[in-house]
Amino acid sequence: MARYLVTGGAGFIGSHLAEELRRRGHDVRVVDNLSTGKRANLAHIEGVEFVEGDLADLDVARRVVDGIDVVLHQAAIPSVPKSVLDPVASNRANIDATLNVLVAARDANVRRVVFAASSSAYGNTPTLPKREDMPAHPLSPYALQKLVGEQYMAMFTALYGLETVSIRYFNVFGPRQDPSSPYSGVISLFIKALLAGTAPTIHGDGEQTRDFTYVANVVDGVLRAVTAPDAAGRVINVATGGRISLNELCQTLVGIIGASVQPTHGPDRAGDVKDSQADIGLAASLLGYAPVVPFDEGLRHTVAWYRTSQA
Ligand code: UD1
Repeated sequence: MARYLVTGGAGFIGSHLAEELRRRGHDVRVVDNLSTGKRANLAHIEGVEFVEGDLADLDVARRVVDGIDVVLHQAAIPSVPKSVLDPVASNRANIDATLNVLVAARDANVRRVVFAASSSAYGNTPTLPKREDMPAHPLSPYALQKLVGEQYMAMFTALYGLETVSIRYFNVFGPRQDPSSPYSGVISLFIKALLAGTAPTIHGDGEQTRDFTYVANVVDGVLRAVTAPDAAGRVINVATGGRISLNELCQTLVGIIGASVQPTHGPDRAGDVKDSQADIGLAASLLGYAPVVPFDEGLRHTVAWYRTSQA
Protein backbone atom coordinates (compact mmCIF):
# COMPACT_ATOMS: atom_id res chain seq x y z
CA MET A 1 0.00 0.00 0.00
CA ALA A 2 1.30 3.47 -0.90
CA ARG A 3 0.22 7.06 -0.36
CA TYR A 4 -0.86 8.72 -3.59
CA LEU A 5 -1.53 12.33 -4.51
CA VAL A 6 -3.78 12.75 -7.55
CA THR A 7 -3.62 16.37 -8.73
CA GLY A 8 -6.74 17.31 -10.63
CA GLY A 9 -8.32 14.31 -8.95
CA ALA A 10 -11.82 15.80 -9.03
CA GLY A 11 -11.64 15.91 -12.82
CA PHE A 12 -12.52 13.30 -15.40
CA ILE A 13 -9.33 11.22 -15.64
CA GLY A 14 -8.13 12.07 -12.12
CA SER A 15 -11.31 10.75 -10.53
CA HIS A 16 -10.98 7.46 -12.41
CA LEU A 17 -7.40 7.12 -11.13
CA ALA A 18 -8.51 7.90 -7.57
CA GLU A 19 -11.26 5.30 -7.82
CA GLU A 20 -8.95 2.54 -9.05
CA LEU A 21 -6.30 3.39 -6.43
CA ARG A 22 -8.87 3.12 -3.64
CA ARG A 23 -10.11 -0.15 -5.13
CA ARG A 24 -6.52 -1.45 -4.87
CA GLY A 25 -6.36 -0.34 -1.23
CA HIS A 26 -4.04 2.67 -1.49
CA ASP A 27 -4.29 5.93 0.44
CA VAL A 28 -5.46 8.72 -1.85
CA ARG A 29 -5.27 12.48 -1.45
CA VAL A 30 -6.76 14.65 -4.17
CA VAL A 31 -5.91 18.30 -4.79
CA ASP A 32 -8.09 20.24 -7.19
CA ASN A 33 -8.94 23.92 -7.70
CA LEU A 34 -12.36 22.89 -9.08
CA SER A 35 -11.81 24.97 -12.22
CA THR A 36 -13.13 22.10 -14.32
CA GLY A 37 -13.25 19.32 -11.71
CA LYS A 38 -16.25 18.67 -9.47
CA ARG A 39 -16.57 17.31 -5.95
CA ALA A 40 -19.41 15.16 -7.29
CA ASN A 41 -16.92 13.14 -9.36
CA LEU A 42 -15.50 11.76 -6.10
CA ALA A 43 -18.76 11.42 -4.18
CA HIS A 44 -19.09 7.67 -4.82
CA ILE A 45 -15.50 6.85 -3.75
CA GLU A 46 -14.92 5.99 -0.09
CA GLY A 47 -11.96 7.36 1.84
CA VAL A 48 -10.45 9.99 -0.47
CA GLU A 49 -8.89 12.98 1.28
CA PHE A 50 -9.86 16.12 -0.66
CA VAL A 51 -7.91 19.40 -0.60
CA GLU A 52 -9.21 22.38 -2.55
CA GLY A 53 -6.25 24.39 -3.74
CA ASP A 54 -4.39 25.82 -6.72
CA LEU A 55 -1.00 24.30 -7.52
CA ALA A 56 0.16 27.50 -9.19
CA ASP A 57 0.75 28.48 -5.54
CA LEU A 58 3.96 26.73 -4.40
CA ASP A 59 2.79 26.65 -0.78
CA VAL A 60 -0.24 24.60 -1.82
CA ALA A 61 2.00 22.19 -3.72
CA ARG A 62 4.30 21.77 -0.71
CA ARG A 63 1.36 21.20 1.62
CA VAL A 64 -0.27 18.50 -0.50
CA VAL A 65 2.87 16.46 -1.29
CA ASP A 66 3.71 16.14 2.38
CA GLY A 67 3.86 12.41 3.28
CA ILE A 68 3.19 11.27 -0.30
CA ASP A 69 4.98 8.37 -2.08
CA VAL A 70 3.62 8.80 -5.62
CA VAL A 71 2.18 11.83 -7.42
CA LEU A 72 -0.14 11.40 -10.43
CA HIS A 73 -0.08 14.91 -11.88
CA GLN A 74 -3.32 15.31 -13.84
CA ALA A 75 -4.23 18.91 -12.96
CA ALA A 76 -4.35 21.11 -16.08
CA ILE A 77 -6.50 23.34 -18.22
CA PRO A 78 -6.91 20.54 -20.76
CA SER A 79 -8.05 22.33 -23.85
CA VAL A 80 -6.43 23.32 -27.14
CA PRO A 81 -8.99 26.07 -27.98
CA LYS A 82 -8.95 27.53 -24.45
CA SER A 83 -5.17 27.84 -24.66
CA VAL A 84 -5.47 29.61 -28.02
CA LEU A 85 -7.91 32.13 -26.47
CA ASP A 86 -6.08 32.62 -23.16
CA PRO A 87 -2.49 31.36 -23.32
CA VAL A 88 -1.49 33.11 -20.08
CA ALA A 89 -4.11 31.35 -17.95
CA SER A 90 -3.35 27.98 -19.48
CA ASN A 91 0.40 28.53 -19.11
CA ARG A 92 -0.10 29.15 -15.40
CA ALA A 93 -2.14 25.99 -14.93
CA ASN A 94 -0.09 23.78 -17.24
CA ILE A 95 3.49 24.97 -16.66
CA ASP A 96 3.75 27.02 -13.43
CA ALA A 97 1.74 24.46 -11.47
CA THR A 98 3.71 21.58 -12.98
CA LEU A 99 7.02 23.11 -11.95
CA ASN A 100 5.68 23.68 -8.44
CA VAL A 101 4.59 20.03 -8.21
CA LEU A 102 8.08 18.92 -9.26
CA VAL A 103 9.90 21.18 -6.80
CA ALA A 104 7.60 20.14 -3.97
CA ALA A 105 7.91 16.43 -4.89
CA ARG A 106 11.70 16.65 -5.06
CA ASP A 107 11.89 18.28 -1.63
CA ALA A 108 9.44 15.82 -0.07
CA ASN A 109 11.36 12.76 -1.39
CA VAL A 110 8.45 11.53 -3.46
CA ARG A 111 9.26 8.17 -5.08
CA ARG A 112 7.81 8.85 -8.53
CA VAL A 113 5.77 11.48 -10.40
CA VAL A 114 3.64 10.36 -13.35
CA PHE A 115 2.63 13.26 -15.60
CA ALA A 116 -0.39 13.59 -17.89
CA ALA A 117 1.34 14.54 -21.14
CA SER A 118 -0.38 14.95 -24.48
CA SER A 119 -0.36 13.57 -28.00
CA SER A 120 -0.83 17.16 -29.16
CA ALA A 121 2.97 17.50 -28.84
CA TYR A 122 3.33 15.68 -32.19
CA GLY A 123 1.44 18.31 -34.18
CA ASN A 124 1.08 17.77 -37.91
CA THR A 125 4.24 15.86 -38.66
CA PRO A 126 3.46 13.54 -41.60
CA THR A 127 4.26 10.07 -40.24
CA LEU A 128 1.63 7.88 -38.58
CA PRO A 129 1.50 6.24 -36.11
CA LYS A 130 3.33 8.65 -33.81
CA ARG A 131 6.39 7.29 -32.04
CA GLU A 132 7.91 8.95 -29.02
CA ASP A 133 11.27 9.50 -30.73
CA MET A 134 9.70 11.61 -33.49
CA PRO A 135 10.30 15.35 -33.31
CA ALA A 136 7.70 17.38 -31.45
CA HIS A 137 5.86 20.10 -33.34
CA PRO A 138 3.39 21.84 -31.03
CA LEU A 139 0.67 23.82 -32.84
CA SER A 140 -1.07 25.42 -29.85
CA PRO A 141 -0.07 26.90 -26.49
CA TYR A 142 -1.63 23.82 -24.87
CA ALA A 143 0.56 21.45 -26.89
CA LEU A 144 3.67 23.51 -26.13
CA GLN A 145 2.84 23.65 -22.42
CA LYS A 146 2.39 19.89 -22.21
CA LEU A 147 5.69 19.41 -24.04
CA VAL A 148 7.47 21.75 -21.62
CA GLY A 149 5.92 19.78 -18.77
CA GLU A 150 7.48 16.58 -20.16
CA GLN A 151 10.83 18.27 -20.52
CA TYR A 152 10.67 19.51 -16.94
CA MET A 153 9.85 15.94 -15.85
CA ALA A 154 12.86 14.46 -17.66
CA MET A 155 15.10 17.27 -16.43
CA PHE A 156 14.11 16.71 -12.80
CA THR A 157 15.00 13.03 -13.22
CA ALA A 158 18.40 13.87 -14.73
CA LEU A 159 19.22 16.80 -12.45
CA TYR A 160 17.80 15.78 -9.08
CA GLY A 161 17.20 12.04 -9.38
CA LEU A 162 13.43 12.46 -8.93
CA GLU A 163 11.80 9.59 -10.85
CA THR A 164 9.28 10.89 -13.37
CA VAL A 165 7.32 9.33 -16.24
CA SER A 166 5.34 11.29 -18.84
CA ILE A 167 2.38 9.46 -20.34
CA ARG A 168 1.14 10.97 -23.60
CA TYR A 169 -2.65 10.66 -23.67
CA PHE A 170 -4.57 10.45 -26.92
CA ASN A 171 -8.12 11.88 -26.83
CA VAL A 172 -9.36 10.17 -23.71
CA PHE A 173 -13.11 9.62 -23.30
CA GLY A 174 -15.48 7.90 -20.91
CA PRO A 175 -17.95 8.38 -18.06
CA ARG A 176 -17.66 11.66 -16.11
CA GLN A 177 -16.12 13.62 -18.98
CA ASP A 178 -17.91 16.95 -18.63
CA PRO A 179 -19.86 17.90 -21.77
CA SER A 180 -21.00 21.26 -20.47
CA SER A 181 -18.43 23.59 -22.07
CA PRO A 182 -17.73 24.25 -25.74
CA TYR A 183 -14.14 23.22 -24.87
CA SER A 184 -15.21 19.75 -23.74
CA GLY A 185 -13.91 16.62 -25.45
CA VAL A 186 -15.65 15.94 -28.74
CA ILE A 187 -17.13 12.56 -27.75
CA SER A 188 -18.88 14.05 -24.73
CA LEU A 189 -20.24 16.90 -26.87
CA PHE A 190 -21.48 14.61 -29.66
CA ILE A 191 -23.21 12.21 -27.23
CA LYS A 192 -24.86 15.07 -25.35
CA ALA A 193 -26.16 16.60 -28.58
CA LEU A 194 -27.41 13.32 -30.04
CA LEU A 195 -29.18 12.30 -26.83
CA ALA A 196 -30.90 15.70 -26.81
CA GLY A 197 -31.89 15.27 -30.45
CA THR A 198 -29.81 18.24 -31.59
CA ALA A 199 -27.23 18.25 -34.38
CA PRO A 200 -23.56 17.92 -33.37
CA THR A 201 -21.19 20.37 -35.06
CA ILE A 202 -18.19 18.93 -36.86
CA HIS A 203 -15.34 21.43 -37.24
CA GLY A 204 -14.15 21.35 -40.85
CA ASP A 205 -14.74 18.43 -43.23
CA GLY A 206 -14.69 15.83 -40.44
CA GLU A 207 -11.92 13.84 -42.10
CA GLN A 208 -9.49 14.60 -39.25
CA THR A 209 -8.69 11.42 -37.31
CA ARG A 210 -8.01 10.64 -33.65
CA ASP A 211 -6.87 7.66 -31.57
CA PHE A 212 -9.81 7.92 -29.14
CA THR A 213 -8.87 6.10 -25.94
CA TYR A 214 -11.31 4.79 -23.36
CA VAL A 215 -10.38 6.03 -19.89
CA ALA A 216 -9.84 2.56 -18.35
CA ASN A 217 -6.87 2.11 -20.71
CA VAL A 218 -5.27 5.31 -19.47
CA VAL A 219 -5.82 4.31 -15.84
CA ASP A 220 -4.12 0.98 -16.55
CA GLY A 221 -1.19 2.62 -18.37
CA VAL A 222 -0.63 5.29 -15.71
CA LEU A 223 -0.70 2.80 -12.84
CA ARG A 224 1.72 0.55 -14.69
CA ALA A 225 4.03 3.56 -15.06
CA VAL A 226 4.15 3.95 -11.28
CA THR A 227 6.06 0.71 -10.83
CA ALA A 228 7.66 -0.08 -14.21
CA PRO A 229 11.39 -0.27 -13.48
CA ASP A 230 12.70 1.13 -16.79
CA ALA A 231 10.15 3.92 -17.23
CA ALA A 232 11.83 6.64 -15.16
CA GLY A 233 12.70 9.73 -17.18
CA ARG A 234 10.74 8.48 -20.21
CA VAL A 235 7.91 9.77 -22.39
CA ILE A 236 5.44 7.00 -23.34
CA ASN A 237 2.29 6.96 -25.51
CA VAL A 238 -0.77 5.31 -23.98
CA ALA A 239 -3.66 4.85 -26.43
CA THR A 240 -5.32 2.16 -28.51
CA GLY A 241 -3.11 2.37 -31.60
CA GLY A 242 -6.03 2.90 -34.01
CA ARG A 243 -7.68 5.99 -35.46
CA ILE A 244 -11.12 7.02 -36.62
CA SER A 245 -12.36 10.13 -38.40
CA LEU A 246 -14.79 12.57 -36.82
CA ASN A 247 -17.32 11.68 -39.53
CA GLU A 248 -17.05 7.95 -38.70
CA LEU A 249 -17.22 8.70 -34.99
CA CYS A 250 -20.38 10.68 -35.44
CA GLN A 251 -22.05 8.01 -37.56
CA THR A 252 -21.09 5.31 -35.04
CA LEU A 253 -22.66 7.35 -32.25
CA VAL A 254 -25.79 8.03 -34.33
CA GLY A 255 -26.09 4.24 -34.71
CA ILE A 256 -25.52 3.39 -31.02
CA ILE A 257 -27.92 6.08 -29.84
CA GLY A 258 -30.48 5.49 -32.59
CA ALA A 259 -30.55 9.22 -33.27
CA SER A 260 -32.38 10.68 -36.22
CA VAL A 261 -30.38 13.95 -36.49
CA GLN A 262 -27.32 14.41 -38.67
CA PRO A 263 -24.29 16.61 -37.91
CA THR A 264 -23.69 20.04 -39.35
CA HIS A 265 -20.25 21.26 -40.41
CA GLY A 266 -18.60 24.48 -39.20
CA PRO A 267 -15.24 26.08 -39.97
CA ASP A 268 -11.90 24.42 -39.12
CA ARG A 269 -10.78 25.00 -35.54
CA ALA A 270 -7.57 26.99 -34.94
CA GLY A 271 -4.68 24.95 -33.51
CA ASP A 272 -6.24 21.62 -34.55
CA VAL A 273 -4.10 18.69 -35.55
CA LYS A 274 -5.17 16.79 -38.69
CA ASP A 275 -4.39 13.19 -37.76
CA SER A 276 -3.43 11.52 -34.52
CA GLN A 277 -2.61 7.86 -33.94
CA ALA A 278 -0.27 6.30 -31.41
CA ASP A 279 2.41 3.69 -31.77
CA ILE A 280 1.97 1.81 -28.51
CA GLY A 281 5.07 -0.39 -28.87
CA LEU A 282 7.06 1.46 -26.21
CA ALA A 283 4.18 1.20 -23.72
CA ALA A 284 4.05 -2.53 -24.45
CA SER A 285 7.76 -3.03 -23.86
CA LEU A 286 8.33 -0.66 -20.92
CA LEU A 287 4.97 -0.98 -19.17
CA GLY A 288 3.63 -4.35 -20.35
CA TYR A 289 0.65 -2.29 -21.55
CA ALA A 290 -2.04 -3.39 -23.99
CA PRO A 291 -5.48 -1.77 -24.30
CA VAL A 292 -7.91 -3.38 -21.87
CA VAL A 293 -11.13 -1.95 -23.34
CA PRO A 294 -11.50 -1.63 -27.13
CA PHE A 295 -12.86 1.58 -28.65
CA ASP A 296 -16.35 0.28 -29.55
CA GLU A 297 -16.95 -1.22 -26.15
CA GLY A 298 -15.72 1.95 -24.44
CA LEU A 299 -18.05 4.02 -26.60
CA ARG A 300 -21.06 1.87 -25.61
CA HIS A 301 -20.22 2.14 -21.89
CA THR A 302 -19.86 5.89 -22.29
CA VAL A 303 -23.21 6.34 -24.06
CA ALA A 304 -24.87 4.20 -21.38
CA TRP A 305 -23.40 6.44 -18.68
CA TYR A 306 -24.59 9.68 -20.32
CA ARG A 307 -28.08 8.23 -20.73
CA THR A 308 -28.43 7.85 -16.98
CA SER A 309 -26.31 10.73 -15.63
CA GLN A 310 -27.29 14.37 -15.21
CA ALA A 311 -24.20 15.50 -17.22
C1 UD1 B 1 -6.25 17.66 -28.01
C2 UD1 B 1 -5.07 16.72 -27.87
C3 UD1 B 1 -5.27 15.82 -26.69
C4 UD1 B 1 -5.63 16.63 -25.48
C5 UD1 B 1 -6.89 17.43 -25.76
C6 UD1 B 1 -7.30 18.31 -24.61
C7 UD1 B 1 -4.39 16.39 -30.21
C8 UD1 B 1 -4.16 15.39 -31.27
N1 UD1 B 1 -4.90 15.91 -29.06
O1 UD1 B 1 -7.35 16.95 -28.38
O2 UD1 B 1 -4.08 15.12 -26.43
O3 UD1 B 1 -5.78 15.83 -24.37
O4 UD1 B 1 -6.59 18.30 -26.82
O5 UD1 B 1 -8.49 18.96 -24.97
O6 UD1 B 1 -4.09 17.55 -30.35
N2 UD1 B 1 -14.50 18.82 -32.72
C9 UD1 B 1 -15.64 18.93 -33.48
N3 UD1 B 1 -16.79 19.36 -32.90
C10 UD1 B 1 -16.86 19.70 -31.58
C11 UD1 B 1 -15.69 19.60 -30.80
C12 UD1 B 1 -14.53 19.16 -31.41
O7 UD1 B 1 -15.63 18.63 -34.66
O8 UD1 B 1 -17.95 20.08 -31.12
C13 UD1 B 1 -13.28 18.33 -33.35
C14 UD1 B 1 -12.08 19.19 -33.09
O9 UD1 B 1 -12.01 20.27 -34.01
C15 UD1 B 1 -10.96 18.17 -33.27
C16 UD1 B 1 -11.59 16.88 -32.75
O10 UD1 B 1 -12.98 17.08 -32.76
O11 UD1 B 1 -10.62 18.03 -34.62
C17 UD1 B 1 -11.19 16.52 -31.34
O12 UD1 B 1 -11.32 17.69 -30.54
P1 UD1 B 1 -11.16 17.64 -28.95
O13 UD1 B 1 -12.04 16.61 -28.38
O14 UD1 B 1 -11.29 19.05 -28.47
O15 UD1 B 1 -9.69 17.12 -28.73
P2 UD1 B 1 -8.31 17.49 -29.48
O16 UD1 B 1 -8.20 18.95 -29.68
O17 UD1 B 1 -8.09 16.56 -30.62
